[in-house]
Amino acid sequence: MLNWDEPLAPQPRAPETAPATGIQPAAAPIAGEVPAADTQTGRIAEPAPMPTSAKPINPEDKRVVNGLTDINQLAPFKYPWAWEYFLNANRNHWTPLDINMTQDVHDYLHKLTLEERHVYENVLSYLTTSDILAMRNIGLAVMEKMSAPELQIYQARQVYEEAMHTWTYQHCIETIGLDQGEIYNRYRVVPEIHHKIQMCNQRLDSVLRPDIDLNDRDELENFVLAYTFFAGVFEGTWFYNGFSPIFALQRRGLMKGTAEQLQYIMRDEVLHASFGIRVCNQIVTEENIKLDPKIIQQMWEEAEAAEMQYAKFLLPDPILGYSADDHIAQFRFIANRRANKLHHTIPFPGAENALPWLDEQANLKKEKNFFETRVTEYQTGGALNWD
Ligand SMILES: [Fe+2]
Ligand SMILES: [Fe+2]
Repeated sequence: MLNWDEPLAPQPRAPETAPATGIQPAAAPIAGEVPAADTQTGRIAEPAPMPTSAKPINPEDKRVVNGLTDINQLAPFKYPWAWEYFLNANRNHWTPLDINMTQDVHDYLHKLTLEERHVYENVLSYLTTSDILAMRNIGLAVMEKMSAPELQIYQARQVYEEAMHTWTYQHCIETIGLDQGEIYNRYRVVPEIHHKIQMCNQRLDSVLRPDIDLNDRDELENFVLAYTFFAGVFEGTWFYNGFSPIFALQRRGLMKGTAEQLQYIMRDEVLHASFGIRVCNQIVTEENIKLDPKIIQQMWEEAEAAEMQYAKFLLPDPILGYSADDHIAQFRFIANRRANKLHHTIPFPGAENALPWLDEQANLKKEKNFFETRVTEYQTGGALNWD
């Protein structure tokens, strides 16, 4: 059984170890080392001769960041769980074209109230900008700092998935016939959406600089904080909350195609958040980092404040079965789950599950066959258990 917190339910497994030869890892080649170009002629220098004394990599020498083992050699693994995430992610293949959106067009035009249209459009507007940010964060800021290839390989898959999520929102926007320019521009003119996006941009900008040296403790801590934010807050909490208004419509039989698209995205995000949290925890352990609890609490509280503003904009009045208060209560409840996995102090003690139907609603019914044309045997692990 998969669940949100431990989607792979990893079995305890000893890391693969090198033969007990006492051989130390080779001093060269170093990860990413390439011959330098001659700055005068532009010619690439002759490649270094292959070291005849290259010794096997000891997986225990691998590190998440700042490692010196050969990053072009996948195994032996130090992080076999990362490879499992990659294999698992590849069991969730779909494209937005697989899902029938015909009824959604009818629902949007003839069944949704103005308030529900407002919710639907702004959820898409927020999510589509968010997924581009998620792609850029992993692909441009995080991957390059990893020094074990099994971590990068899952993240490469994540980059692809974020791009496909963006395609999914675009497909929904196009199919429903919304004004693309207006929807995509909304995050820049709606302060409540803009604020959340800016919080992400600031974190991303702080780790996207070319001069970062993760051997500097302050830089390293900032990188861990940024990745923690993206995995724990952004993907693990804001995304989860971001989908829930659409699941509320789905529950009433409305916009079911869009909701189904989001169920597939959510399955990916389960893995993204869980993987990112695991990587952050690994860095904290390996590098003996002590994050300031006050800074962590502040991160959660700022995320809550931004989510409250967003919820009030999205739902100035409740729609049938969903309100801003529900949205915020759910944010706090999910935030506590993520914080727990990150070994943070619970940021919102006493928060309760305001939408007990949500986990079930978010589950994919994998036995379903979209058009009787395709067997959708996704994720053989069965339904998600969000607890
Ligand atoms: Fe995504
Ligand atoms: Fe993601």
